[in-house]
Amino acid sequence: MAKPTLDYRHKLILAPMVRVGTMPMRMLALKYGADLVYSPETVDKRLLKSKRVVNDVLGTIDYIEQTSNSLTLRMHPSELNRLVVQLGTGDPDLAVEAARVVAGDVAAIDLNCGCPKRFSLVSSMGAALLSDPDRLIAILTALKREIPLPITCKIRLLPATETETVIERTAALMRRIETTGVSAIGVHCRFQNDRPSDPAHWDKLIPLARAVKIPVIANGDVFALDDARKLTEMSEINSFMLARAPQYNVSVFRREGLLPVLHVMQEYSRLAITYDMPFHNAKYCLLLMWPSSLGKEFRDSLSRTKSWDVMCQHLDLVDFYKEALAARQARIATLAAATATASPNVLTPSPAQPEIPLTPQPQSELGPDCPYIPDAPDYETVMRS
Ligand SMILES: Cc1cc2nc3c(=O)[nH]c(=O)nc-3n(C[C@H](O)[C@H](O)[C@H](O)COP(=O)(O)O)c2cc1C
Repeated sequence: MAKPTLDYRHKLILAPMVRVGTMPMRMLALKYGADLVYSPETVDKRLLKSKRVVNDVLGTIDYIEQTSNSLTLRMHPSELNRLVVQLGTGDPDLAVEAARVVAGDVAAIDLNCGCPKRFSLVSSMGAALLSDPDRLIAILTALKREIPLPITCKIRLLPATETETVIERTAALMRRIETTGVSAIGVHCRFQNDRPSDPAHWDKLIPLARAVKIPVIANGDVFALDDARKLTEMSEINSFMLARAPQYNVSVFRREGLLPVLHVMQEYSRLAITYDMPFHNAKYCLLLMWPSSLGKEFRDSLSRTKSWDVMCQHLDLVDFYKEALAARQARIATLAAATATASPNVLTPSPAQPEIPLTPQPQSELGPDCPYIPDAPDYETVMRS
């Protein structure tokens, strides 16, 4: 059977974002016009400890970390063929094993080669791979050989040395990466030691995109579709990956223009409630969407909120919340009844504990400061004041 392919040209992409790029954000990005969405970086060992569960109540596929019973990934059928899972790994064998866990549910696998956090660096992951190109190439080669999906990676710029310029060094690495057969290379056009507030080095993108034949996905400071258009006019780059812009307002992907933030927050909350996403994670994302500059009092009240019912009062979603909970309970009852009818001779499950895959209870696992994926790096976010 022919290996599935993905065309990475002319694409608008939701960048991988720990804590932010969970299912509601990805679903909205797709709804508003993104072509592909990346999962938050998911560490190989965590995926290996995660079990795939078909969640009949929510209509999702869940990967549940077995030791803590917490959610590693939740995926929706609408993401089919458009979801890329980003792996955090420093080992070819673990990378392949972890990719195999999710391969049946995703469109492609991406390798994180840019995370500058200590967590990644000490485990030979993320940006550590930039200074250990043999390891990076070994991981990509193993993934290409063993996983029947498109494989990509996301790198940063390499600093100049006494003998080589930024472009020469980075282009040489990209050419090596290209020889592994990957489908595209994402380039976050900052250096490992740059801060998110440092301007992205767009000037470096053009020669880098010309250095390889495969598509280059430009990342860094693309805050509007106009930025993307400007870059396309300046170069042959036509695929873009956006992170902080959709983190603030994911309707940035709409060709017709931005929607009001409050509207987006309501849409986001509807999805987060419907799909029973961890409250603290959703609250974290909602607070990123509503910086103090948009209204400090409202932000403070959101920030004090500890549950969905109060959050829904602030967001004018009280009726929606009640209906969503009632619909979920009805679904649980229907599934329990179907199970009882299918096996009338076995002990009938009580309605409170039906023998169906129930939504796990990740809420209890995650405190407000706990990253969505507990052992993933906590990326620095730039908050607008
Ligand atoms: C909240 C947050 C989480 C991030 N998590 C990841 C991640 O999991 N993997 C990754 O490769 N980059 C991650 N990044 C970096 C972004 O994908 C992107 O490279 C960077 O923010 C530059 O793009 P921007 O200028 O559009 O924000 C994260 C960034 C933010 C703001």
